[in-house]
Amino acid sequence: MIGELEKKERYYHLAINDDGNYEWQRKKSESEKFNFADIPYNKITSLNGLNILVPFYTNTSIIDMIIDALALEQYDSVIELGCGYGQNLFKIFYSGGGVNLKYFGGEFTKSGVEMARKLASIEPNIES
Ligand SMILES: C[S@@+](CC[C@H](N)C(=O)[O-])C[C@H]1O[C@@H](n2cnc3c(N)ncnc32)[C@H](O)[C@@H]1O
Repeated sequence: MIGELEKKERYYHLAINDDGNYEWQRKKSESEKFNFADIPYNKITSLNGLNILVPFYTNTSIIDMIIDALALEQYDSVIELGCGYGQNLFKIFYSGGGVNLKYFGGEFTKSGVEMARKLASIEPNIES
């Protein structure tokens, strides 16, 4: 499910249409900078506080690092502020972060909170 949401975000961006409503719009090739799937060749990420341009498919996630850090000591909770729909928390949970930890996400948007709750509710091993 989270993979499907990520895939959608690779292909579409959320835009406001002429009626003032939100809609998902397919990213369009406007230059040769888009690859076979109309996905940009590069993306901006940060390194040591600087914005850098890297190939789009470069994995810049620090989830594995967090999981390894969690294994070093006894922690009781994982907290992400600005968690969106909670993809990082779910990935940590599913990739070995620990099923006995408490996971907390703080999110500004109602839609993010609703989606995170929905995703948590379909996982039988998550008590929400
Ligand atoms: C770039 S998104 C990243 C979402 C998530 N961390 C992820 O990696 O998928 C930043 C998120 O922070 C949320 N946010 C921004 N300001 C916030 C605030 N003051 N309190 C809580 N959430 C906030 C936004 O609504 C958005 O979902």
